[in-house]
This record gives sequence, structure tokens and C-alpha cells, in this order.
Amino acid sequence: MKIRISIALFFLIQVCFAQTSEQASIIPQPNYVSFTGGAFALSDTTIIVAGENVFEANYLKNYLKENYGIEVIIDSHYPPFKNFISFLSILSSNPSELDPEYYDLKITKKGVTIKSNAAAGSFYAVQSLIQLLPLEKSRRLLVPCLQVFDAPRYKWRGMHLDCSRHFFTKEEVKKYIDYLAMYKMNTFHWHLTDDQGWRIEIKKYPLLTQVSSQRKETIIGKPVDSRGKPLKDVKYDNTPYGGFYSQDDIREIVAYAGKQHITIVPEIEMPGHSLAALAAYPQYSCTGGPFETYTTWGVSDDVYCAGNDSAYAFLENILTEVMDLFPGQYIHIGGDECPKVRWEKCPKCQQRIKDEKLKDEHQLQSYFITRIEKFINSKGRKIIGWDEILEGGLAPNASVMSWRGTQGGIAAAKQEHYVVMSPGKPCYFDHYQVKDRTNEPIAIGGFNPVDSVYNYDPAPKSLEPFEQKYILGAQGNVWTEYIVDFRHLEYMSMPRMAALSEALWTKPENKDYKKFIARLKIHSKLLDRMNVNYAKHVITQN
Ligand code: ACM
Ligand code: ZN
Repeated sequence: MKIRISIALFFLIQVCFAQTSEQASIIPQPNYVSFTGGAFALSDTTIIVAGENVFEANYLKNYLKENYGIEVIIDSHYPPFKNFISFLSILSSNPSELDPEYYDLKITKKGVTIKSNAAAGSFYAVQSLIQLLPLEKSRRLLVPCLQVFDAPRYKWRGMHLDCSRHFFTKEEVKKYIDYLAMYKMNTFHWHLTDDQGWRIEIKKYPLLTQVSSQRKETIIGKPVDSRGKPLKDVKYDNTPYGGFYSQDDIREIVAYAGKQHITIVPEIEMPGHSLAALAAYPQYSCTGGPFETYTTWGVSDDVYCAGNDSAYAFLENILTEVMDLFPGQYIHIGGDECPKVRWEKCPKCQQRIKDEKLKDEHQLQSYFITRIEKFINSKGRKIIGWDEILEGGLAPNASVMSWRGTQGGIAAAKQEHYVVMSPGKPCYFDHYQVKDRTNEPIAIGGFNPVDSVYNYDPAPKSLEPFEQKYILGAQGNVWTEYIVDFRHLEYMSMPRMAALSEALWTKPENKDYKKFIARLKIHSKLLDRMNVNYAKHVITQN
């Protein structure tokens, strides 16, 4: 009798630990969720029926083992009558269900059924299921019964990371990718080259890793005052800094991301932001150098020479290796902030303007990008570039990443070009996230609080419905001039990445900032367990 009472008490306590509809926190919020009462008990005896989703089944199995010590069995033969987690393919002609990112997650007392059209949907169902698990370690996890039907609002749900200004190791990049996966983000924009460092091994040009991946020192603090005026007394740390990813590292990271349904868009900056490359190969500049990899923040005036055919050949050889490494359809070619001062004085650039009957240096930039686009298109890939590529005329097939506000994106969509919105406000996560900066780590400036990120709607009101379809989605950018290590990167990215994921996944009618914050408070306990250095006060102040 005593034993029975204690067993009953044990189960009662466990039921209390299962999340209720008020306590359940899935971020991003599913587009349809209904709690049906009761809970499913997941334990060592639960059988996962993988079907075609072997990676997703193993991902869940490993998660349960690592976080709870629970060892479930994967069996691909048949779903048992009870105590199962079963992956099924949808056999339906309903077009909305043919979205590869769609999933349907049904949890009953008997088991969990995940239905999808493709592995991506199954992966997202697993992410939702994981967020529904209780935080307390137990041999028997109670998961609330519910029905979810879910698919994302946008196709491009991205996060960017600048690995040039500061370098993040292969393991750190993988961890960042894990965070994207947790929030059902599907695009990782990897900023691999800039004035301050070249981070990707190119076999044909070994000096890019021997020379361009290094800088002799780094500025301490900011090169300009709060009004943007250059400071006279800048100091340097007198410490060499560098790093790069070998082609094997890149292949490993691409495969790692791909399994989690994340496409990597590599960015190779041109024609500007190229000083590190020119430090090793000055012959592709207008003046011939010599140069050093930039040790300060800001933009170098020295850029690739747009009148020199061998500079294009250099870039095409690099891009050939880049396209071999990255299987995604998009290659980001930068295109932003290219000073024109060298081109104005360069005989070769001026000759090119004459020969091509161009009006000015802006059209020369357009010539440059269009020439690179032709090469990339000839290999079956597409280019995307920052919104400066609109100046002087858009390359015929280019997609635009709008960062200087949304005007560039709107203009591109009106020209029927695809667009990814990434306006500084609110998509730059290197900006401050609270008003009071007293105890904040140094940031580049600006103010992008989590509510602005959450409430961001990438669909500009000024676009007609047929133009709206050119808005692929949006992304958060994390520039790392002042972000020196991974803990700091976590601090700047979280919880804004969570907020952005919901802005991109969840339909506006299903969004609610207050409810998001309530879910975020629950979710933050999961981040604590993961030892993520998120900005806690941003959540508690709300
Ligand atoms: C940029 O922030 N220069 C794209
Ligand atoms: Zn030139």
C-alpha cells in the first residue's frame, strides 16, 4: 500500500513538472498550436520509428542521452501501439503541406507523431519537441499533449557572423550554427574576408592564408569619437592576431550546417573591403601597394582595380574554389562601402570607364559586379550583394541585401530582384540592446532593443503584393570589431536571435510581444542549462 501511494505521488509530482499550455515555450511560436491535455511520458523504453529521417531520429536520441541520460531505441520497422516517437511522410496533394519546412507534431498520451514533407520539417518538429521537454533531469520526461501545424512565414531566416574582424574557431562556429538550428533559422551568412583579415584557405593563392589571415596588431577601442571624427590618440595592442579555416574545416562546417538544414552563404568581399587580400597580392590594386592587413576599424581606400583584367581572373579563381566548397545557390560578393578615390586616379580604371562607355565610378562598380555575376551565373550559382550594388545599375540577376535601411530593398523588389532585408535598425546585433550603457560591454553604437527586433516586419508597406514576393526574408548581422570572443558574441546575439526568429517564422497575427517575453523567460532556463551567455537583464527588465 505504502509503495502504491509513493508511486502515485511520484507520478503526481511528475505531472506537475510537465509544461502546461501557460508554461510551454516554443520559440519561434508555431503558427498553430492547441494543447489537448495530459502528457506523454518519454523514457528509456520509448521507441523512435525513424522512417526516412535517420539523422533527425539520431539527433533526438543523442539529445535525450546527453541532456537526460535517457537511451531510447531507434527502430525503423513499425510504430508500436504506444510509447513511440514516429516520423511519417505526408502523402498529400495539399500544396501548403508540400512546403519542405512544414511539419505537424501531434503528442498524445500514447506517443508522438511527426509528419512532414521533407527532413527539414521533421528537424523543426524535433526542435519544437526538445523545447517542450521539462528542464529537470529525470528518467521519465512528461511532454504536454498537443497538436501543432507549423510552417515558416519566410524562406530566408538568416544570421550573419563576421569572422574577419575577430576570428571564431571551428567549434565556436558550429555552436553558433546550433543556436540557429534551435530557432529554426535556415541561412548562415559567413563573412569570411575583409580589410582586417582573410579567413578562408584558397589553394591557388597560399599567401591569402600566410599573409592576409594575419594582422600585426589591433587598435584598442575606437578609431573615431562619438560624432565619427577620427581620434588623434589611438593605441594598438602590439599583439599579432590571425586565423583561418582550412578547406577541410570549411567542408566539415558546411556538412554540419547542412544536416541541420542550414545553408551557408559565404561572403567574399569585393571590390572594397579587400585590403587584407591586397596585402598579399598588391598587383590587383590600383597603386600596386605595398599594403598591410588593416589594424584599425573602418574602410580602406585601397580596393581591387576595376580596370585590371588580372584582378578579375584572381577573383574568379578564388570564387571557383569557394563554389566547390559551398553547395548553396547564393554566393555573397559584398559590394558595400567601396571608396572610389583610387579608381578616380587610376589610369586603368579610367580607361575601362572610357572603353565600356560608363558614366562614372558608380557605373564602373556596376560593371565590376556584373562581370563577376556573369562568371558566377556561368557556374549555375547566383550572387547576392549589399545594397550599394544598386548604385550604377543592378547586375541583371543579382539579389540585394538591404542594410542601409529598407529603401535599397524596396527599390530592388520594384525592379523584380530578390531581396533579403537586414536594415541596421533593427537587424544589426552589434548595436547596444539597452538604453543605459554604463555596464554594457563596448559596442559599435546604435540602439536595437529586443522589442524592435521582435516587432520588425520585413514586408514593406509600400510594396504591392506582387512585389512582396521578392522579399525572401531577413537576417541579423553580427559585426565583430568590438566582439572579441564567443561569450561576447553570445551576449550580443541572444536573445535578439530568438526575437528575430519569431519575426521571420511566425505570421504577424500569431505574434504577441508580451507572450514572447513570457515564453522567453521560460526558455531562458534552457539557455542557462546550455550555459549560453545571453543578455539576462534584457529579459528580466521586460
Ligand atoms: C555593412 O554593414 N557594411 C554591410
Ligand atoms: Zn584601378
